[in-house]
Amino acid sequence: MSKEIPSLHHAFRDNFKIGAAVHTGLIRTEGDFIAHHYNSITAENQMKFEEIHPEEERYAFEAGDEIVDFAVRNGMSVRGHTLVWHNQTSDWVFQDPAGGTASRELLLSRLKSHIDTVVGRYKGHISAWDVVNEAIEDKTDLMMRDTKWLQILGEDYLLEAFRLAHVADPQALLFYNDYNETDPVKREKIYELVKGLLEKGAPIHGIGMQGHWNIHGPSIEDIRMAIERYASLNVQLHITELDLSVFRHEDRRIDLIEPTAEMMELQEQRYEEIFRLFLEYQASITSVTFWGTSDHYTWLDNFPVRGRKNWPFVFDQQRQPKESFSRLLNAAKGSAPTSRGIS
Ligand code: GLA
Repeated sequence: MSKEIPSLHHAFRDNFKIGAAVHTGLIRTEGDFIAHHYNSITAENQMKFEEIHPEEERYAFEAGDEIVDFAVRNGMSVRGHTLVWHNQTSDWVFQDPAGGTASRELLLSRLKSHIDTVVGRYKGHISAWDVVNEAIEDKTDLMMRDTKWLQILGEDYLLEAFRLAHVADPQALLFYNDYNETDPVKREKIYELVKGLLEKGAPIHGIGMQGHWNIHGPSIEDIRMAIERYASLNVQLHITELDLSVFRHEDRRIDLIEPTAEMMELQEQRYEEIFRLFLEYQASITSVTFWGTSDHYTWLDNFPVRGRKNWPFVFDQQRQPKESFSRLLNAAKGSAPTSRGIS
């Protein structure tokens, strides 16, 4: 990799951290590339409950340790992801060993052990934790997603999780993280949830906006309104899982082997507009993390269509800068917006 390529995180050094989701395979094969462009990392999967705590008496810290060691060696921040979620959490967590569903007391004690142990292990090295992920319901008018956490513990499970995480590492910034965060209905639910937690005295310091967007939407105005609404709670905002799919969600075609020129132009334009917007709100936005490092690998290669390649980032499949990368550097320098080329 040529060191002549400017560093992405360096370009935004006065604005916010630039992060990437990684796994141990990536840090072994492209560690220099990651350290050159990013100054924050998140484990894509390897700190999730089912991976880091697969059995009641067994934690599997090898991958998490490798990721944190890599970050420490390279002077990077780590975002911890995630402590409480309805997905990728093993069934044993919600079961009573004697049969049936775990009682409230049992689940609370497991929540406490999990948070104490995981947050405690990386105390001082993980600067921000996604304490609760995706607790809001987004298919019906209900506020809370119907999960085992909610069924067994009741709504206060969030308050409890934030309190436990704060005790385990009082210096770590604690986040509520969710997707479809720019949708006006869901935005208001997230706002109310976090407002309620703050009113109850929860140690919550920020909202994670996942940012799984695409080249067509959401609109800049919807993103702006979500940022303003969340920032009005006086919490920090982290963009936690940014990627710009080249497909609309409902587009299920599988015939493309490379992105069209039109897709790439739209993506460049969107990246520039989105980062200019983030810069406007840099007093609130303190970190922007991409959900991957380059088009070489993205979870979108398997979602929503299994095996369909996607190209959502600002580095291509050879980890070389795309035109969108230059657009971001221009935005960081405060240069005039790039014109669309067509009027
Ligand atoms: C959600 C989760 C992430 C990840 C992505 C898809 O956004 O928060 O951990 O699973 O979905 O990869």
